[in-house]
Amino acid sequence: MAPKITVIGSINMDLVTEVERPPKQGETVRGLNFYLHPGGKGANQAVAAAKIGADVAMVGCVGDDLFGEQLMDNLKTKGIHIDKVRTLKGKSSGVAQITVHKGNNSIVVVPGANRELSVDHIQEAEALIKESDVVLLQLEIPIETVVRAAALAHQHNVKVILNPAPFQRLPEALVETVDYITPNELEYDNLMKDARTKELARKLIVTKGKRGAQYFDGEKLATVPTYNVEVADTTGAGDAFNGALAYSLAIGEPLESAIHFANAVGALSVKAHGAQNGIPTLEEVNRFLRR
Ligand code: RIB
Ligand code: NA
Repeated sequence: MAPKITVIGSINMDLVTEVERPPKQGETVRGLNFYLHPGGKGANQAVAAAKIGADVAMVGCVGDDLFGEQLMDNLKTKGIHIDKVRTLKGKSSGVAQITVHKGNNSIVVVPGANRELSVDHIQEAEALIKESDVVLLQLEIPIETVVRAAALAHQHNVKVILNPAPFQRLPEALVETVDYITPNELEYDNLMKDARTKELARKLIVTKGKRGAQYFDGEKLATVPTYNVEVADTTGAGDAFNGALAYSLAIGEPLESAIHFANAVGALSVKAHGAQNGIPTLEEVNRFLRR
């Protein structure tokens, strides 16, 4: 049976411009290409887990605008349960303005409807959370909502993965109720400024792009190397990693092999443009790993 994963988080439309070089202050440059891609860290992670074969439900909010409709359609098409995704009257959907420069990206996110994902919305999803094998969280929704979701999942003995992106300081209660915290290197540096590093450290899985990922093996950070692939667009590679990690842990894989699998999915995801386009199916990952 497919593992059940609930993703509680953001849903955005990505407005992507590809540039030869980013503009300086006050300068206008000609861009190369423009794309509209469905995105949002929450939705990207949900799509990754679903594409690999998990039974995924999303808890989130979109606005009652054109993007909202398209984002809902996208989730539906990917086979994700959307009965806990609310369309909010008079709100605009989350958007991310993304500049891609030589395969690397910088992002400005405007949360819009994502900002309205509230604690009562989580309460309403309690049955769903309780039935899940893994709950996956990020930080593009209000922090008190994330704290409540983690607490509720923890209370029902459901594994919680927190992707601390975009970074903000983690409340004590959140650190206590999550099982894994998956920062990238920048977020890791920020986390390490925290006084509670010891408690944090044993839950860490740090994604390091081309250099793979590190996890705490009981004593130290151990490295799980990744794969070298041709990069088209790194946007959402971390999300692909998190979705795949959730899947792998949900089916009961040991941590190291779950990370190994998630590395492969993250690597494959950068070969196509857009946060969700490069995400492989389970078949494709397995073929890649066997080659
Ligand atoms: O992690 C990538 C995502 O961050 C993009 O899809 C964008 O929407 C922002 O939320
Ligand atoms: Na991609």
